[in-house]
Amino acid sequence: MTDTSSAPQAASNANADAGAQAPMNNASAASAAAAAPAVPAASPASASGKKPWETLPVTVKVNGESHGPMDVPAGLMMIDFLHETLGLTGSRLGCGQGICHACVVIVDHADGTSETVRTCITGANYFDGKTVRTVEGHATRDTDGKVTLAPIQQAFLDHFSFQCGYCTPGFVNAATVLIERLKRNPIARADLEAAITDGLNDQICRCTGYVRYYEAVRDVVLKTPGCIKDSK
Ligand code: FES
Ligand code: FES
Repeated sequence: MTDTSSAPQAASNANADAGAQAPMNNASAASAAAAAPAVPAASPASASGKKPWETLPVTVKVNGESHGPMDVPAGLMMIDFLHETLGLTGSRLGCGQGICHACVVIVDHADGTSETVRTCITGANYFDGKTVRTVEGHATRDTDGKVTLAPIQQAFLDHFSFQCGYCTPGFVNAATVLIERLKRNPIARADLEAAITDGLNDQICRCTGYVRYYEAVRDVVLKTPGCIKDSK
């Protein structure tokens, strides 16, 4: 395998050596200057005070904490903003193409509804003015530092729902949105399996057969008051 990491340094050393051994005379320097593209001392963008790339504004509330206003590169995806700007690394980059839904976060709307949004294909600017929950926002920590998992997180643990866990943040968020929807709009017990399938259908897991994820969500739904219309 080529050691690419050392290649630039080797080239640099070679150039330095060549320069030391063969100083240019005036004619060759003029010829080299004519052949080489002109490099301005400062780019026109920086000379005019503009940023060399387009930026867009972001002010966003994540897990109850406000961030911004700030400008971010126009092409910055939300998952990179979460990881690199906010230091929230729990959201997982899986496919990076909008397929696996490992990267979803929850967006809370003013009307009380919530939805999942894929952060690998959605720019940070899309979330400007929005309220977001990431996987870091579900558990609580008391003043003694004791962590209490959200019911769905505890259920995934209790049911051994995951193996590597890479998909789990996405499942936590998708299941949370489903349970919150059922609390707002309860369904009949007979419709629960279809509702779980619908709610988790986009989440891809490469380790498990999904069964234990489904069992955990069913458990939480049945234990959460108000989700099932005809529960006793
Ligand atoms: S990582 Fe976003 S959908 Fe797969
Ligand atoms: S537990 Fe490994 S991808 Fe789902």
